[in-house]
Amino acid sequence: MPVNILGIESSCDDTAAAVVQDGILLSNIVADQEVHRKYGGVVPELASRAHQQNIIPVVDQALKTAGITPGELSAVAFTKGPGLMGSLLVGSSFAKGFALAGGIPLVGVNHLQAHILVHFLRHPGVEASMPSFPFLCLLVSGGHTQLVVVKDFLDMKIIGSTIDDAAGEAFDKCAKVMGLPYPGGPLVDRYARDGDGNAFAFTKPLIRELDYSFSGLKTAFLYFIRDRLKENEDFISHNRDNLCASIQKTIVEILTDKLEKACIQTGIKVVALAGGVSANTGLRERMNLLAREHGWKVFIPEISLSTDNAAMIAITGYFKYRAKEFAGLDSAPMARLPGDFS
Ligand code: KG4
Ligand code: ZN
Repeated sequence: MPVNILGIESSCDDTAAAVVQDGILLSNIVADQEVHRKYGGVVPELASRAHQQNIIPVVDQALKTAGITPGELSAVAFTKGPGLMGSLLVGSSFAKGFALAGGIPLVGVNHLQAHILVHFLRHPGVEASMPSFPFLCLLVSGGHTQLVVVKDFLDMKIIGSTIDDAAGEAFDKCAKVMGLPYPGGPLVDRYARDGDGNAFAFTKPLIRELDYSFSGLKTAFLYFIRDRLKENEDFISHNRDNLCASIQKTIVEILTDKLEKACIQTGIKVVALAGGVSANTGLRERMNLLAREHGWKVFIPEISLSTDNAAMIAITGYFKYRAKEFAGLDSAPMARLPGDFS
């Protein structure tokens, strides 16, 4: 009997469902929420409401695309956190109802662990290349920036993390300063392609060990723009591409400087990226460059699996199902989860 896992993700502003069969991705559906764009960020109340509207059509579509009936499912996995409480409650309540109705186990998944385990998803008929254990993962999303030693599917240790803003937040906040809509990260990436990353220099933070900090950079960028606008009110429009390229280069260097340090400290040369910011072209290019320079074996998820999705929840659900790590029907989501993904 194949193991069929339905994954449900609703931690922020994407409602997603996916089906994985024995580790192979059969469907991956995401409904993003346009409604937040005009507010310049995610509005939690509106996100919960949109999840409520989207969740049944999205799950229905995921099952139909996979060609799997509810009766053929082995378990339902859902994001238990971290994330927005109102958003998490929609996905977890739906998953519980689904598990109860189908008489199948429920699996609670840590969203961050899931971003990392996306590297173990296989596609039908494709010979997969996967990281070997232990590997180092740079997990960069809108809410988190972490360096993680991955010892096994469900055995991970955080060795560095941001002390303030996340890398995605730095992209989004700098984009906002330039008047770009939310989420600004992908737009900064797009404009950076036509710009010169050396046009403007921004100071990189001096933070101990393997930790990160991005709030100083965001403030420095804000003051830099404010001062230039005093001299020239068209400064942003005249320099948009160079500004995007320069801020992107700085963020990417901050990220990879610590990654290089982590590789030296741990002796690990198998390196993976995960999380929404791993979609960034500059970061991807730099990773490939560093791979050649240091002899690293680098793994970068395809774009649709970098940003929030339910395929990552389903594959993590699959590993937890195999390990018999089930959640009770009384489990409740948590906006924050304790470290090391336990
Ligand atoms: O992992 P994710 O989809 O959601 C969270 O778990 O936070 O990450 C979203 C973050 C946002 O900050 C978004 O701006 C950023 O990832 N992002 C990017 C790119 N695509 C998404 N940042 C820079 N360049 C991109 N191409
Ligand atoms: Zn995420």
